[in-house]
Amino acid sequence: MTLPFPIAETPDAAEAELGRILFAGQTDFLKGVVAMSGLPPADRTEVCFAGRSNVGKSTLINALTGRKGLARASNTPGRTQEINFFTLADSHYLVDLPGYGYANAPLPVIEKWQRLLKQFLSGRQTLRRAFVLIDARHGIKSVDQEILALLDGAAVTFQCVLTKADKVKARDLDKVLDQVRAALAKHPAAFPEIVLTSSEKGDGIATLRNIIATL
Ligand code: GTP
Ligand code: MG
Repeated sequence: MTLPFPIAETPDAAEAELGRILFAGQTDFLKGVVAMSGLPPADRTEVCFAGRSNVGKSTLINALTGRKGLARASNTPGRTQEINFFTLADSHYLVDLPGYGYANAPLPVIEKWQRLLKQFLSGRQTLRRAFVLIDARHGIKSVDQEILALLDGAAVTFQCVLTKADKVKARDLDKVLDQVRAALAKHPAAFPEIVLTSSEKGDGIATLRNIIATL
């Protein structure tokens, strides 16, 4: 019997080529958006990266594009404070979102990001898939559940991406996977595959490129 929510398989050479070609295209920072009125035209395939502060969203975008300094990453949670749009080839937007669940900024500031984040996740027509990043050491927390429920309500397909796989032992990973699978089973908008990644080691990067290229 196959487990529900299997880990996405590494693409074979021919499939990986699709992802490689897309991500060999020109990537650029387009703009940082602080209000829904500032969103760029909804004229191409868009995927976004959501997750708790510090989970590795910006770092993952850098790993996917092979450009270390493209999205600003940092060890300080709350680094990304706007919705950052990156163009990928002429066909895609990659969207780096501010983290949620971060309690160390002035409350009005946090509320402003969180409101914008929620508006974006539930109101962006061309959003093809939301990748929801979950730290492979910690699993799904209650703040994540809130976002997953919002995506269910907006009927935005989301896919769980486990990050920092290099920091977790195989035995601990199995426990986290059980927890993640049980949580995902309750969400109708969950795509039935999990991606296991390490931006540090490169694990899962070709897989994720391929997923985006074949949307
Ligand atoms: P916010 O913008 O604050 O929401 O954070 P973020 O989710 O964009 O996280 P960011 O990419 O800035 O990464 C946070 C920290 O985690 C940085 O110190 C990264 O180097 C580290 N990190 C990200 N991905 C990995 C990974 O795969 N492995 C390891 N070991 N560290 C990682
Ligand atoms: Mg960030």
